[in-house]
Order: sequence, then structure tokens, then C-alpha cells
Amino acid sequence: MQKLVIQGGLPLTGEIAISGAKNAALPLLCASLLTQQSLRISNVPALQDIVTMLTLLRLIGLEVTQPDVGNVILSARNLTNLTAPYEMVKTMRAAILVLGPLLARAGEANISLPGGCAIGLRPVDQHIKGLQAMGASIQIKHGYIHAVANKLHGARIVFDIITVTGTENLMMAATLAEGVTILENAAREPEVVDLANCLNAMGAKIQGAGTDIITIEGVSSLHGAEHDVMPDRIETGTFLVAATATGGEVRLKNTDAHLLDAVIDKLLEAGAEICTDDNCITLKMRDKPKSVNVRTAPYPAFPTDMQAQFMSLNCIAAGTAIITETIFENRLMHVQELKRMNAEIEVEGNTAIIHGIQQLDGANVMATDLRASASLVIAGLVAQGETVIDRIYHLDRGYENIEGKLSALGAKIWRV
Ligand code: EPU
Repeated sequence: MQKLVIQGGLPLTGEIAISGAKNAALPLLCASLLTQQSLRISNVPALQDIVTMLTLLRLIGLEVTQPDVGNVILSARNLTNLTAPYEMVKTMRAAILVLGPLLARAGEANISLPGGCAIGLRPVDQHIKGLQAMGASIQIKHGYIHAVANKLHGARIVFDIITVTGTENLMMAATLAEGVTILENAAREPEVVDLANCLNAMGAKIQGAGTDIITIEGVSSLHGAEHDVMPDRIETGTFLVAATATGGEVRLKNTDAHLLDAVIDKLLEAGAEICTDDNCITLKMRDKPKSVNVRTAPYPAFPTDMQAQFMSLNCIAAGTAIITETIFENRLMHVQELKRMNAEIEVEGNTAIIHGIQQLDGANVMATDLRASASLVIAGLVAQGETVIDRIYHLDRGYENIEGKLSALGAKIWRV
């Protein structure tokens, strides 16, 4: 099994380019199921989750070509298999995103029910409830969601809880439904907006994406289009935190500061100097960071996907911080690993109290999920001595060439 070795203590300095967003690219690839014509997606990051999604789409019958790095052309002329098997859904929960488009286009879908995962229970009841309201008949049998609908119809759906992939699944399904669908209490994440923009370029009629009410007027068919994946706001935030924690100076290209307001506010509070222009963010950290309290919530508030990274920052900051995770039930797994590096953290329920210390110690630690892994990388970069991170396949799911990018910023990091 591969591991990452980090020799800590060096400030990150220099310039790197941010990749396309994993959580935008995954639903965009699934949008190709909605048309017989070709969909060309560019700025697709080279990540394990993307490989898994393309494997699933090929299994369903899509022709997938990758003419060059970052470009994918998908053609769903014939759908030969309407099943997403357990082996795929268990490695990547985002496979649930084929449910809505498959049902809308082919009238049937058979998707393995995702189980719980490292960060929480993560049920998909809202996806199912929405599709039922649109006329689908859904049965759970032998661990699979079996959905059938001759023709979906528009409906007014009020989500009980804000769900990102739930909003995306129903938005995709509604593009081909008969009549108007209104999604209320919808997720406002920028990845939802990116998907809506692509679907509209394919001929869909979607209004309100980015607000909590999205209106979709169904059309009889969608056509091919070209779409550029938005920048990865979580990768951007992760590098900004790493530079803040190490006292560095970095320039991140191909990104967009507007996607990160809540994160940038917290970094300013921690003492970072930040300049932004069209598609660049420059961050300089002169002093030791100050502790910052964080409470995760749906966009535009502070993202759960940045919580673990701020935990590492607070470990070496001046003062005491409180971090509260409100989205997932079990997303503080990194705390035990950070404690192995000497961090002073107490956990009560979904709240962590972090007492900043002078220095973390390098140690052997284990990655437990994608963002927890990122927090351990940041901890390793600031720690004294060597940190070895095990189970880094989690990182490869969501960070393109992380050790290459960190090395370009002067870090001593390598894979063994
Ligand atoms: N939820 C339900 N019922 C549902 C759907 C969700 O109870 O039917 C609950 C979840 O259990 C969770 C909360 O609602 O407690 C929010 O979950 P959501 O559905 O929004 O999460 P998701 O769509 O499965 C996406 C990202 C996650 C990110 C969350 C929250 C993708 C592919 N994944 O997941 O990204 O943490 O939104 O912003 O877009 C990551 O990249 O590391 C990652 C986990």
C-alpha cells in the first residue's frame, strides 16, 4: 500500500494551478446520460473518482474518449445496461448521480444502495422521495434501488434537508420530465450552478440554480454541448490553509476567490494577507496564525469539506478554537490521528476544542477519508520531523497530483 512521507517545517512558496472541481466534474459526466449526442467536458481533473465514474458510464454503454489530458467526450447513443453495481457504488457514493438521468432517459434504473461511510450514515431518502414525487415507482430489493417510470412528470419538491447530490440528481431528472419541477430548499453550492449551466447549454430550461428555489421546465430532448469544469474550491482552500499554517507565500492560478468567501474570511481572521484578482489568489502569512472558530453549514457558509484542514491549522495557532461539524455525524476521525502528532484536542459530540501548541511532532498516521487525509498532509507540512501517512488512496480520489503540487511549492514530500 502506498504511503506519503513528509519532512515538515518548510514554508510553502511559489505558484501552482488549481485543477477542475471533482464535485462538479462527477455530476457533469453523468449529465451525458441525458442526450444521444456527444457532450465534451474539459478541465476534468485526473482523479481516481473520475476514473471510477467513467468506468461506470462505459458499463452503462457510453462511448468515452479522452482526446487529451483534461478532455473527455461522452456519447450515450445506446444505453445497454441500466445497473450501477455494488462494487462501484461502495467505492464511490457519487455513483448515485446516475439514478436521476438514467431514469429520465431510459425509464428504468437499478442502482446499488450506498451504505454508510467513514464520515456518516449518508442516506439517499431525499433522492428517492423526489423521484417518487415525479412519478417514479421505486422499490428497494436485494440492496438495490429499482426505479421505473414510463415518463417522469414535473412536481413541487421540498427537500427536508439540504443535499448537494440530491439537488443535482433531481435537477437532471427534471430536465426531461413532462411539465415544470420546482425544487425548494435546494442546495446552493457552486457545483449545482456549474451543472445547471451545462444542462442549459444542452437545451434544458433551468432557472434559479444558486438560490434555494430551482425551477426546471421539462423539454422533450437535450442535445450535445461543450462545458468547462469550474475550479476546485476545496483544493484551492486546502492549499491556502497549507500556506497559512506553514507561514508561506503562494499564488494559486486558475481558481476563483468568489467561490471561497467563508473560507477566505476565516484565513484573514487567522492573520493571512490575501489578494485576489480575476482567476488568482495570492496569500502571504507573516506571523503565527491565530485560532479561528469554525461551524460547518451548507453553502454559502463554511464548507464541511474544509473543516479537517482548519483543524490542523488550529493545532499550531495561538489560542483556543472551537470547531463544530453540523453536516456529517462522524467527520472528526482525523482528531485521533492529529493527537498522535501531539495535538491538544478535546471532542464532545460533533464539537472539537483545539488548544493551539507551539509545534506538532511528525508521526505515523492513517488517512480515514479524503478531507481527513488533507488535514494530515497539512499537519505533516508544519510538524517537526518526518510524518508518514498511510492509506493515501483516499487522497488520490480527490486531489490531483498533490505531492507534485506541494513539491513545486518547496515541500519535502514523496510517495513510497
Ligand atoms: N442526507 C440525507 N438524505 C439524503 C441526502 C443527504 O439525510 O437523501 C444528509 C447526509 O447524510 C448529510 C447531509 O444530508 O448529513 C448533506 O449531504 P449531501 O447529500 O449534501 O452530501 P452529498 O451530496 O452526498 C456532497 C459532496 C461531499 C460534500 C457534501 C456536503 C459530491 C460528490 N460530494 O456530498 O463531498 O461533503 O456534498 O457539501 O458532491 C468530499 O468531496 O470530500 C465530499 C465528501
